[in-house]
Parts: sequence; C-alpha cells; structure tokens
Amino acid sequence: MRSSLRHTPTLLRHARAVRPSCWAPMASAVQSPSLGAPALAPASARASSSSSVNPSEISHFNALAATWWDPHGSSRILHLMNPLRHDFISTCRASSPTVTSSTPTGQLRYLDVGCGGGIFAESAARLPSTASVTAIDPSPGVLAVARSHAARDPGLTAEKLEYISATIETLPPRERSKDFDVVTLFEVIEHVDHPAAFIDRCGEFVKPGGWLVMSTIARTWTSWFTTNLMAEDILGVVPKGTHDWRKYINEDELRAHFRGKGGWSSPRVLGVVYIPGLGWKEVKGSEKIGNYFFALQRDA
Ligand SMILES: C[S@@+](CC[C@H](N)C(=O)[O-])C[C@H]1O[C@@H](n2cnc3c(N)ncnc32)[C@H](O)[C@@H]1O
Repeated sequence: MRSSLRHTPTLLRHARAVRPSCWAPMASAVQSPSLGAPALAPASARASSSSSVNPSEISHFNALAATWWDPHGSSRILHLMNPLRHDFISTCRASSPTVTSSTPTGQLRYLDVGCGGGIFAESAARLPSTASVTAIDPSPGVLAVARSHAARDPGLTAEKLEYISATIETLPPRERSKDFDVVTLFEVIEHVDHPAAFIDRCGEFVKPGGWLVMSTIARTWTSWFTTNLMAEDILGVVPKGTHDWRKYINEDELRAHFRGKGGWSSPRVLGVVYIPGLGWKEVKGSEKIGNYFFALQRDA
C-alpha cells in the first residue's frame, strides 16, 4: 500500500500531506469543525450527559435492516470483515495470556455496542470460548432483524446471546453490573454524537485486564476517496449516505485520548483494506489512511 501511494496523482498526494483541515473533535461531534482543534478532545461535562444517538444515523440504519443478513446486500462489507474481527480479538488476548476471564469456566463475556443485525454478536455467541454476548443497538428495525435471525438458531439461547434495545447510556442496571472481558464497537464510533464521551462510557464496562476493541476509519483524503467516493458513489458496495467523512477518527487521536486518560495500556492497531473480489486484507501502515482496528487493554 505504501509503495502504491507513490503513484497517486500529485493533487491527491499534496492533499494528504496537508491533511484535512476539518478535524472532528470527538467531544463536540462535528458541528463546528476547526483547523487544528484538539483531536479527540476530552469529553465535556455537557457531552458526557448527552445521548450518543444521532437520529439521522438511526433512520439510515433502520432503512438498511431488511437486507442486513443478505451476504450480497447492504452489509456485505461487514460480513466480509467479520473473520478479521475474531482474529484481531484473539491476537489482542494472546498478547497478555496471564489475564483470566470473568467466568469460572474461563469463557468470555462480550458486550457488543452498536451490534446492528448481529453479524459479530451471533458469531461470537457461537464460539465455545464464549460465556455470553450482550448486544445493544438503538435502531429498532435493525435490532428486530437481529432478534429474528438469531431465533432461527436454537443454539443461540437467551443465556448465550441477548439483544437489548439500548445505547451505552441507557443500558439496564442488570447489564451494568456485569464485568465484560471484551467490549466491541465495530464500525460504530463514526456514527455517534459525542464520540469521546461514548468511548469512555463503553470503556467503563470493560473488566480490569479486559479489552476494548473497535474498528473505524481514519479521516484522510484517501479515506474520503475510497469510502465515500468509490465505495458509496461509484462502486455502490456501501449504501449511499452511510459515511460522513467529517466523523472519521484517526488512530493517533484515539491513542492520545487514552494516553490522556490513563488506566489503559497495550494499544494494538491493524490497518485493513477492502480489495474487491478478495475481501478485507491486512495492510501494514494502512491504519494511517483508511479502515483500521484498534484495541486497548484495561489495566488489571
Ligand atoms: C455500520 S453499523 C455496524 C453494525 C455492527 N457493529 C457491525 O459492524 O456488524 C453501525 C451501527 O451502529 C448503531 N448505532 C448508531 N448510533 C449508535 C449509538 N449511539 N450507540 C450504539 N449504536 C449506535 C447503528 O444503529 C448501526 O446498527
């Protein structure tokens, strides 16, 4: 990927060197983007008491619900990404093998925030190493699809997989008292309001020694070209209007956010690129320009 960048048109190369002037500070969402605003600014008191839900995002995802489980439908790209999510989580956990799980059997408890139709949640619940998956989403149409799809598999008992219509702010007290080994936010943080506060709240549910795992998109001219222009407008592999480039978050902003907070260590990142016909592939360094996974371990 790096070497191919040398062959990009001069204008694009120049644009990338300048970097987008439209930062998306997490605390203030994107209403007033400003040059050089602190990336991932700490969540303000106002943001931390506000909902992360953006109504137009919810309408957008509800409209896609019907085809969520069609492997060639609106969520095709998410289906193809799913195996990499499991590999990434395994790699993160293997990097600190001494940390125990929250259950006596050694099985893991997951909280999947913004689970959508359940692509990751279902697959995680089927793993023998899983004790339970709590999967939450504020889009009612999407959650209805998730529930009805899971109901087709008798192995996905309520104990294994529970869907809750909630955001991280409205998670019921019963779930709040659980310790989660892994909290996942896959392709979600670029769709929420007040992302810094949202991430912090999600982090509160990770048990000491557990992992907060997310995937998102870097805010660069290349990602605008690939995820907005190519994927949505030209190739149509992602439904039009899915992504607002201004809400993308860079990996160094996430690192700085967590460094500033303390209590988290071992940041891990994996840059991935979607190659039509081949699917998602790991491309070292691509986290700086497009899609990537990011994880941190909560200090034990
Ligand atoms: C691109 S989809 C990703 C779904 C799923 N994580 C996956 O990758 O298969 C984004 C999801 O985030 C959900 N979402 C939007 N705002 C949210 C919020 N404030 N809290 C939790 N989920 C949210 C949407 O309803 C949608 O299902």
